Amino acid sequence: MEISEVRRNFEREVLEVKSPEQLESLRIKYLGKKGIINKFFKKLKELPPEEKPIFGKEVNSLRDYIKNLLDEKKKEIGTGKKRERIDLTLPGRFYSGGSIHPLSLIEDEIVDIFVGMGFSVVYGNEVETDYYNFTALNTPEDHPARDLHDTFYLQDGRLLRTHTSPVQIRVMEKKNPPLRIIAPGRVYRVDAFDPSHSPVFHQIEGLYVDRDVTLGDLFGTLEEFAKRVFSPDTEAMFIPSFFPFTEPSAEMKISCPFCGGEGCGVCQHTGWVEILGCGMVHRRILENLGYGDYTGFAFGMGVERIAMLKMGINDIRLFYENDLEFLEQFR
Ligand code: DAH
Repeated sequence: MEISEVRRNFEREVLEVKSPEQLESLRIKYLGKKGIINKFFKKLKELPPEEKPIFGKEVNSLRDYIKNLLDEKKKEIGTGKKRERIDLTLPGRFYSGGSIHPLSLIEDEIVDIFVGMGFSVVYGNEVETDYYNFTALNTPEDHPARDLHDTFYLQDGRLLRTHTSPVQIRVMEKKNPPLRIIAPGRVYRVDAFDPSHSPVFHQIEGLYVDRDVTLGDLFGTLEEFAKRVFSPDTEAMFIPSFFPFTEPSAEMKISCPFCGGEGCGVCQHTGWVEILGCGMVHRRILENLGYGDYTGFAFGMGVERIAMLKMGINDIRLFYENDLEFLEQFR
């Protein structure tokens, strides 16, 4: 075969190469030990001396030409392996960090305020018995809160706690006074899912038992709490109410955080909004637990309610929908 013919064949073949494997077999065919170029070199040795220089030159330049084309082709198709490419001028990748859920933020804030007043945090059970959720809390058999429509019952007769108040009993059973605890957690009620109701929500329970705890202690503690969680100029008002486990019982209202008491849609133009239930622990409960020589106060509040008032949120469902545009506002 003539050198010029080999060159033409190679040019044709190299155009058809598509993969690194094809490229390698083409290289072996032409430049390998038993390749075409080496055959030319063998032939060179047998030539008469006067022809050697010219032929040798031609073979060398063909070999260089083939090498160059193979190198170019290699660049064109790559090695098949990913090459590392670093472009230091590219902007960095953006990773969006998570943010703490608004309910967690508020719960932490409330917990911190009470911890600062000497309360410690305890957790109860979400699955409770009728005894802890109702009976021990002085809630009689015929009390409407026991209605099947309010309470989720499990098949084994236990239930999902409807409030965090059973933690009061569990703590008083285990520990000795003086007691100062708060208990945050989920509670469950058979309720529609609408702008102001959810079948699952969060409460924070508080309990303070010691010798000579008074209603004044209750009022002072909760008023201070309201000022810290809302604003220092927040005013508190306690109005008589009823809970089976407290006597006397009260509802705490605060001056509306939106209008400052002027009257607006949020406070239904009364200037006041209700934020929690509270009272002096019922004597019957204390005596049943052997706490006859003590008095105490208790309170319970909805975390969603405080969060909605504090953050200006008008639909409780927003807390559970995992809508990032909503959640990221509280970052
Ligand atoms: N457990 C009550 C509820 O879920 C709230 C409550 C009221 C808790 C008065 C208390 C209390 O500890 O003293 O509606």
